[in-house]
Amino acid sequence: MAIRVFLNGCNGRMGQVISGLAKDSQDLEIVAGSDLSQAVVQPFPVFARAQDCDVAFDVIIDFSNPAALPNLFELIRNTQKPAVICTTGLEEAEKNELDGLAQASAIFVSANMSLGVNILISLAQKAAAILYPDFDIEIIEAHHRQKVDAPSGTALMIADALNQTLDNQLEYTYDRSQVRQKRGDRELGLSSIRGGTIVGEHTVLFAGGEETISIHHSAQSRNVFARGALAAARFLAGKPAGRYEMKDLIN
Ligand SMILES: NC(=O)c1ccc[n+]([C@@H]2O[C@H](COP(=O)([O-])OP(=O)(O)OC[C@H]3O[C@@H](n4cnc5c(N)ncnc54)[C@H](O)[C@@H]3O)[C@@H](O)[C@H]2O)c1
Repeated sequence: MAIRVFLNGCNGRMGQVISGLAKDSQDLEIVAGSDLSQAVVQPFPVFARAQDCDVAFDVIIDFSNPAALPNLFELIRNTQKPAVICTTGLEEAEKNELDGLAQASAIFVSANMSLGVNILISLAQKAAAILYPDFDIEIIEAHHRQKVDAPSGTALMIADALNQTLDNQLEYTYDRSQVRQKRGDRELGLSSIRGGTIVGEHTVLFAGGEETISIHHSAQSRNVFARGALAAARFLAGKPAGRYEMKDLIN
């Protein structure tokens, strides 16, 4: 029997890619979804509030908006079903709430579902361990003009991974326009570009004396995130309660 999916944010850009890919899948079926917008006609019921869903499902995939999360969290609390959370721009309180939900449900969170970005992180961690503090580290990201959060969840995910490798010595700098001072040794700069239809670009730049190294990832289609989310849903169905991330899926 196919894994039955509840798709939160089903009428958004990512939601529509997921429902398109799921149509061609043998082992996954979207049986219900939730979205504030009813602008898209879907072949499954779409609830304005996730917690009103009365259709049986096995796993949740979420690509929505932080504003949609309270309703989604209520659905997770009520059903204790596993959930793949892909929405970015979460506040600390929302991350803590996910920790609480993971006591009773399998919760998978990743700000970037592409295999390539997760390989970039692992390469950048190895480079940082060798190059820091001789090389300064900067992260530059670019996304389409509709994106509301900056820096991207992925840029923060890369920054956190590098900081963890370097024993949390780094201090994040988001804006140099308000200070007149040289770059500090512990700074990790994060810069955001927004424009057009760019799907997602991330560069980790290591700038040393007279040489630089860049590790770059370019997502050319939203399909890479959607395929990763579907793989995570397959992985999570039937898993015990707890927190899961891309590393668990890749390993
Ligand atoms: N983890 C990843 O790999 C990854 C990849 C791409 C996008 N994202 C993130 O996924 C999210 C969605 O991206 P998108 O490009 O599809 O955005 P989008 O704006 O196109 O879609 C979001 C959908 O959520 C709905 N929504 C907004 N507020 C709501 C609410 N309060 N209740 C119910 N529905 C609500 C909107 O109507 C919209 O249809 C963003 O946070 C984005 O950063 C994550």
